[in-house]
This record gives sequence, C-alpha cells and structure tokens, in this order.
Amino acid sequence: MSIVSGHGAAVRIEKCGKTFADGTRALELATLDIARGETLVLLGPSGCGKTTMLRIIAGLELPDPGGKVLFDGKDMTSVPIERRNVGMVFQSYALFPNMSVAENIAYGLKIRGMPKAERTARVAELVDLTNIAGLENRRIDQLSGGQRQRVALARAVAIRPGILLLDEPLTALDAALRERLRSELNRLLRALGITTIYVTHDQAEAMELGDRVVVMRKGAIAQIGSPREIYFAPKDRFVAEFIGAANIVEAPLVNGQLVLPGGQLPIAGEGSRGDAIAMIRPETIRIVAADGSSLSGTIDSVSFIGDRQRFVITGASHKPLTVDAPNTIQAKAGEQVGLSISPDAVRLLPSEN
Ligand SMILES: Nc1ncnc2c1ncn2[C@@H]1O[C@H](COP(=O)(O)OP(=O)(O)OP(=O)(O)O)[C@@H](O)[C@H]1O
Ligand SMILES: [Mg+2]
Repeated sequence: MSIVSGHGAAVRIEKCGKTFADGTRALELATLDIARGETLVLLGPSGCGKTTMLRIIAGLELPDPGGKVLFDGKDMTSVPIERRNVGMVFQSYALFPNMSVAENIAYGLKIRGMPKAERTARVAELVDLTNIAGLENRRIDQLSGGQRQRVALARAVAIRPGILLLDEPLTALDAALRERLRSELNRLLRALGITTIYVTHDQAEAMELGDRVVVMRKGAIAQIGSPREIYFAPKDRFVAEFIGAANIVEAPLVNGQLVLPGGQLPIAGEGSRGDAIAMIRPETIRIVAADGSSLSGTIDSVSFIGDRQRFVITGASHKPLTVDAPNTIQAKAGEQVGLSISPDAVRLLPSEN
C-alpha cells in the first residue's frame, strides 16, 4: 500500500514557553525531542498546556521569543501551518458538513492540486484503512460519532503529513467505542509510521498509544518516559496519582523498613532514614494469611469488579490501603488479613515542601 511506510519527521521543541496577551502563562520553557515515527502522548489535567503545546507545533500559535520549533532539524518557527505538512484532528471533528465523506477526505488533496484519478485512488485507500468503506457518498450529518472521527482521521492523513497532531480525538465518544477506536488507532499509527503527537487527559489512552508519555502539570513537564516508567517509577506524587490508582504511604523509615501501624514494610535498596513517602500500586499487594505476616490489617470493604476484586484495608497503614486482588480470593469485610508486598513494588517518592 503506497500510503504505508515511515515518512515521519523528527520534531524538536526548543525552549518554548507561552505567555498569552492577557498575561496567562500557559507553558513554562520546554525542550522536547520527538523521534521519527514516534507516538508521543501529552497527558495532564485540564488547563495544563497540552493544546497550547500542540498548537505551537502545528504553527497555530507562536512560542514566546527565543523559542524554536524544528522539523528534521529545520527551523519552522515562523512557517505557517499550511506549509508545515502537518495533519490535525480535533476533539470536535471540524469536518465540512455540506460535503460527502469522500469529498472531506479528498479536500486537502484537491487544494494541493492533485489530479482527480489520483485523489480517488487515495480516498479508496484511506476508506479501507479507517474502516469506513461503503460510506463514501454519505453526508457528515448522516454519520455516527465514531464514523465521523474515522473520517476526520482519514482526512488528516490523506495529505501524507510528516507529523500528525491529535487533540483529544476520542473524547466525544462513549466509553466502549472509545476503547475500540483506541486500538484501531494504535494499529493505524504503527502502520503509517507518521510522527504523532497525541493529546489526552485519559491515562488508559496514553498508556496504550504512547511510545513515550509526557505528563504535564501547570504548563511544565512533570515527567517524560515510557508508559511503564511513568506507571511504575513516577517521579513524584502528582505523577503517581495522575496515572492510575496509587496508595501513598507516609511513614518513618528505619533499617530499610517503613514502620506502619500494622507492621513493617521492607523497601528495596538503601533509602535514607527519617520520614519517607512511598507509592504502592493496588495490584502489587497480595492478600495472605494474617498469621506470620509482617504487615496486617482489617478488610473494610470488598467490591467485585468482574475481572478482579478491590479490597480496602484499614489498620495496616495510616490511611486505608486499596488492594486489587484476583476475583477468586474468598475474604469478607471484618476479617484480619496479612499483606505481602515485594520490596521492589514500594516506590519511594521525594518529600514535598
Ligand atoms: N488564547 C488564550 N488566551 C489566554 N489564555 C489562554 C488562551 N488559550 C489558552 N489559555 C490558557 O492557557 C492555559 C493552558 O491552556 P490549554 O488549552 O493549553 O490547556 P489544555 O491542557 O489543553 O486543557 P484541556 O484539557 O482543558 O483542553 C489555560 O490556563 C488556558 O486558560
Ligand atoms: Mg486542550
């Protein structure tokens, strides 16, 4: 297939900050390199600057003076969007309602002067790739949300952009469809090899799609890493709590063990003495017999969630601990249980000031 194969551009954002005219500081100085063909996810709470960063890369917004945007080493900072060879998909689709599906997809090709026969062939290819065959002649208002999003995606990649920019493209869809489109999108991005920057505040989306994830907070980069690094080795409490469920334990550290109300919890490595803050993911805690366990507590509640059960345990730490356990464990509220946690699963976090 002619559209497939890596032709992505490398992107570098160099010392880009953004202060809007009204004085709003949307982006702190950031430098970021995105490799050819990589999918980089910008993840963070509302207002943290994700869209602003995307718009700077697209050329819809200028960084503050001194900031630079480079594609394959070439300075693009003052090149307008129509000459950057980027494809964009927005949360709101932004399709042309009065045009058919095929006309929407072909739009960018037409204004670039591609001959009709070639355009038709390209549209056919994209319709296949995005699973919307049979809908070519429909108007946009005759499509479902998921179908519209596929058209938006097909239109964005039709021009064979070196860089694809996606701003929360799945947010408008219901949960089941979002999940399905997410894995379709994943397959598509890997097949196309386009450098992709994907904005979301959904951590599951970030995990599945990102080669690397940038966690943002208040206009600054809190952490950059692979989904596994971000999940298992968060740099601080903000990242730990933003990415999935996290138990935060604050306790004195004595001889390599956290001293808790319900017993001792050994940590890996040395760790300094004194008060420590640690993170433990709920699925890394095992429920065992209370007898002979160095850490124990009382089951406060159990919820059956289908593929697993979620226990809330009190008395082990200062605050209730959340434990995700297999759905086969038989244990009831009120029971005393032991907790087994591998030292490697206890992640020390820097103390906050
Ligand atoms: N044109 C503008 N003028 C002034 N402030 C702006 C402008 N555009 C965005 N902002 C502000 O900059 C900050 C970052 O906005 P941005 O749209 O980048 O956030 P976001 O991370 O994309 O949030 P969301 O998840 O809600 O879309 C916000 O405080 C926002 O109010
Ligand atoms: Mg946004």
